Amino acid sequence: MDSKLQQARNYEEIYGDRIPKAERPLFHVVPRIGWMNDPNGFSVYKGEYHLFYQYYPYNTSWGPMHWGHVKTKDLIRWEWLPAAIAPDAEYDNAGCFSGSAVEMPDGRQLLMYTGVKENQREDGFIESRQMQCIAFGDGVDYEKYENNPVLTAADLPEGGSAVDFRDPKIWRDDKENCFYVVVANRTEDGSGAILLYRSEDAVNWKMVSVLDRSRNEYGRMWECPDFFMMGDCAVLITSPQEMLSRGRAFHNGFGNIYLTGTYDPQTYRFVRKAAHAIDYGLDFYAPQTLESPDGRRIMIAWMQSWESSHDHTYIGKWFGMMTLPRELSIKKGRLIQQPVRELEQYRANGVFYTDVDVQERIQLPEVQGRCVDMTVTVRPSGGRLYERFIIKVAKDTRFYTSITYSPGESILTFDRSNSGLRRDIVSSRDVVTRFRDGKIKLRIIIDLYSVEVFVNGGEQALSSTIYTEPEAEGISFEAEGMAIVDVEKYDIVL
Ligand code: FRU
Repeated sequence: MDSKLQQARNYEEIYGDRIPKAERPLFHVVPRIGWMNDPNGFSVYKGEYHLFYQYYPYNTSWGPMHWGHVKTKDLIRWEWLPAAIAPDAEYDNAGCFSGSAVEMPDGRQLLMYTGVKENQREDGFIESRQMQCIAFGDGVDYEKYENNPVLTAADLPEGGSAVDFRDPKIWRDDKENCFYVVVANRTEDGSGAILLYRSEDAVNWKMVSVLDRSRNEYGRMWECPDFFMMGDCAVLITSPQEMLSRGRAFHNGFGNIYLTGTYDPQTYRFVRKAAHAIDYGLDFYAPQTLESPDGRRIMIAWMQSWESSHDHTYIGKWFGMMTLPRELSIKKGRLIQQPVRELEQYRANGVFYTDVDVQERIQLPEVQGRCVDMTVTVRPSGGRLYERFIIKVAKDTRFYTSITYSPGESILTFDRSNSGLRRDIVSSRDVVTRFRDGKIKLRIIIDLYSVEVFVNGGEQALSSTIYTEPEAEGISFEAEGMAIVDVEKYDIVL
């Protein structure tokens, strides 16, 4: 085995396995050691779910990209496998960037990733090129294809940039007996496009269409695309860089969007009808989906924002987390997201309260914890609208994170400014919810250093990290005005 990969495998085994369990989330994927960004290769292989990730084992900040590797039977209990690939070839000397995986008809697992090649010219300038490469393996060990790369600058449409050509998401079309891959590219106007390629063997590819382009409307470069059908609705997902905010619909910087529309498989044409944000929290990027054996479309994302990824004030030997995998469905053209149902098997110590009057701040006996699945249903009391309803989590005498609902404007606000942050980074974000009648249902999943909020059955989601000391496990409820709540709370126990 190549020495770079062997070195990473040795390192993670020695140092990763020394990290105490209590210092990691319980059911969210984190790197074995060091740094993690995007999910890669989220797929089913030989009946198990595999997930790879952008990985730099030697530091808690981004470095030359390797692929880390985990697998699971139920999307909740994950098991580490040895690092899968390292930047050890001439065509990926500057990193094995994001990509995807698929089970081949012959039983091998194929990884498709972006090789980043850097060369210093004689005048000193560092030239960078991105190209798509493949590797074959058995679910643990992988060998890079001898004729890599399989997609290069020669496969780009006119005006496409060879510097920004990355993040292949491959799938197999069983009916047509072929493979498709979507790849992100920067076009001549400086903004992103998603290219669609087709192949019989996953080695020889031909571009069949440009699915969609930003035209500088939804950010500049588009990263990490995914494309799938939900019934007859085509969904194109991408993570734009350098977005401009638009009211509360999109925020500045690294964003995440889904484009819905129609897709004609004969002409490979996607016609966009609408664009929305996928997640309204502080930390959500580069989502990737798979189709589970029972036909569900399941999505996972990096639960981190690039802009705040230099905040390592909490003590840790690892950095970066994935979201909880989510089941997707479409309702009235909108994506609905719900935590995978498998989580419910791990609920324990259920506590239930109904019709609790809330005016001032209250705490309910046994409603606390940092590994929690809690559903809170709020409604007005006596027909009069309350002004605000506030849930505080990860709370002690000094710290808390708040989730506030203001029914008048129908705004839900997530705010971690009092969570113990010691950096001046974005800490609060809003989402406009659908109803204004004072009724709202929030499912809140807490796993040590993260809070994921699913609004009204998954119509909206807000995912954020919080690096509050683990001892802060209080939860409180308060209303300005009068509200009535039901609370259903479980611990998650693996
Ligand atoms: C997105 C991204 C990808 C790239 C990877 C590098 O977060 O920038 O476009 O492949 O990260 O780690």
